[in-house]
Amino acid sequence: MTETRKKISLPYLFDKVSKGEPITWLTCYDYPTAYLQEQAGIEMILVGDSLGMTMLGYESTLPVTMDDMIRHAQAVRRGATTAFVVGDMPYMTYQPSVETAIRNAGRFMAEAGCDAIKLEGGAAMADRIRGIVDSGIPAIGHLGLTPQSVSALGGFKVQGKDARLAKKILDDAKALEKAGAFMILLEMVPDRLCKLITEQAENCIIMSLGSGPDAHGQLLIYHDMFGLYPRFKPKMAKVFGNAGEVILNGLKGYHDEVIGKQFPQPENWFGMKDDEFEELGKLIEADKNAKCDCDCNCDCNCDCCKTEKK
Ligand code: KIV
Repeated sequence: MTETRKKISLPYLFDKVSKGEPITWLTCYDYPTAYLQEQAGIEMILVGDSLGMTMLGYESTLPVTMDDMIRHAQAVRRGATTAFVVGDMPYMTYQPSVETAIRNAGRFMAEAGCDAIKLEGGAAMADRIRGIVDSGIPAIGHLGLTPQSVSALGGFKVQGKDARLAKKILDDAKALEKAGAFMILLEMVPDRLCKLITEQAENCIIMSLGSGPDAHGQLLIYHDMFGLYPRFKPKMAKVFGNAGEVILNGLKGYHDEVIGKQFPQPENWFGMKDDEFEELGKLIEADKNAKCDCDCNCDCNCDCCKTEKK
């Protein structure tokens, strides 16, 4: 549907916000899925470090490297040429210093053709956001449940249910906006807190992942939407289609058909013309009868060697 769609830009996203039209955002890590998301009209794609769990099978996002991210972001960019692609900065690629953050953010732009980067953390990361934005790279903050700090946060649970933590998240959002973040993702914060932050944002787009309907747009993890992550399904993830089940049934069908000799059928293989096949027989026969000029005991099975072996 999006063959003629123009490249999604920052002004386009802010324009949607001003019209009150929600922005659509999904995670994606590979070429074919990026192609489908583009066709479906999804506006933003997050190449999330969640790929460590969804694609690489790690227990957390912490082992993911910049090189992992670049490889996947490049594939996504090839599949989604007009979507606004965001590279998610993995663990310890921005925390050590502003300079590290700028260098790694730059890799997403230069090597993978991303449109922006995202990093986790509040006021403590504001100088990283400032440095990245000052280098000409659009930056997105991520507050609430921030998976790289899951250990410090005490697990994958809602953040900001009590007033003091809610106030801290609100203050963090303001600090990130002041530092130049054009967008903030709120993951798993209460809906009323998300609404408050959205209302108070002046020049910053607020996106929700499990934080209710009042943000400027929604993000979901693709694997959760389609039953493709076997370990758990977060409450916030609606399953829009059980692709995991469809694929599993297909795999069982393949297994059964191969052992039952129903697959492959003629439409699944390639034939050869009779005359070519006859010619092949002749060529094989000719090989067998070929005289070789060696006088050793080779294993070529030609008549001359057979004679010598006797
Ligand atoms: O890595 C990711 O996909 C994310 C989401 C959980 C927001 O950061």
